[in-house]
Amino acid sequence: MVGLTGGIGAGKSAVAARLATHGAVLIDADQLSRAVVAPGTPGLAEVVALFGPAVLGEDGRLDRAAIGALVFGDRAARRALEAIIHPRVLARSTAIAAGVAEDAVVVNDVPLLVEAGLSAAYDVVVVVRAASELRIQRLLRDRGLSEPEVLARMGTQATDQQRAAVADIVIDNDGSYEALLAAADEVWRELRSRADAR
Ligand SMILES: Nc1ncnc2c1ncn2[C@@H]1O[C@H](COP(=O)(O)OP(=O)(O)OP(=O)(O)O)[C@@H](O)[C@H]1O
Ligand SMILES: [Mg+2]
Repeated sequence: MVGLTGGIGAGKSAVAARLATHGAVLIDADQLSRAVVAPGTPGLAEVVALFGPAVLGEDGRLDRAAIGALVFGDRAARRALEAIIHPRVLARSTAIAAGVAEDAVVVNDVPLLVEAGLSAAYDVVVVVRAASELRIQRLLRDRGLSEPEVLARMGTQATDQQRAAVADIVIDNDGSYEALLAAADEVWRELRSRADAR
């Protein structure tokens, strides 16, 4: 069980996708956190009961910008939202992990692993890091985010030092994309050999 984390735009998804090409089983916490509040789910019903129907878009889906604005800077509201989402994400992750082969390498892409205090839940914690200027450049280029948006998100996340403190393996992503893939390949060999040694 591998926990893969890093700040916004550090390169987690790129590393996760590369590890998957080698045979890792991917569990994407962001994707699950959307799935547990998809239309028709008990999770969405709870969110609406708590925050009101204004958090729904016209299409009946959770309006992520609206809910984001409601909880941004309101710790109690954020906790209440997390209390709905986190246990459901955990339950789904556990169910997926329970169904894999015994020697599988399961890679959990968990952006807020450190913030949520989850490092002990994994056998290996892999942190992807990159200089914040590079992360900003890449996100502006590829994700259409503005610099203030990226900085606001970075401001709510753990620091590089906090992530480094729980890392078993650190992947440096200050270089080219090709260099990142090569680093991910090397990490795959390490994870495979750790899994085989168990
Ligand atoms: N070394 C690199 N050189 C150039 N672009 C890169 C490099 N590493 C990642 N990118 C690009 O930067 C963007 C952010 O990378 P990625 O989506 O993997 O980060 P992430 O950590 O998953 O971000 P998030 O926290 O938003 O999920 C992507 O568009 C990716 O293609
Ligand atoms: Mg990602």
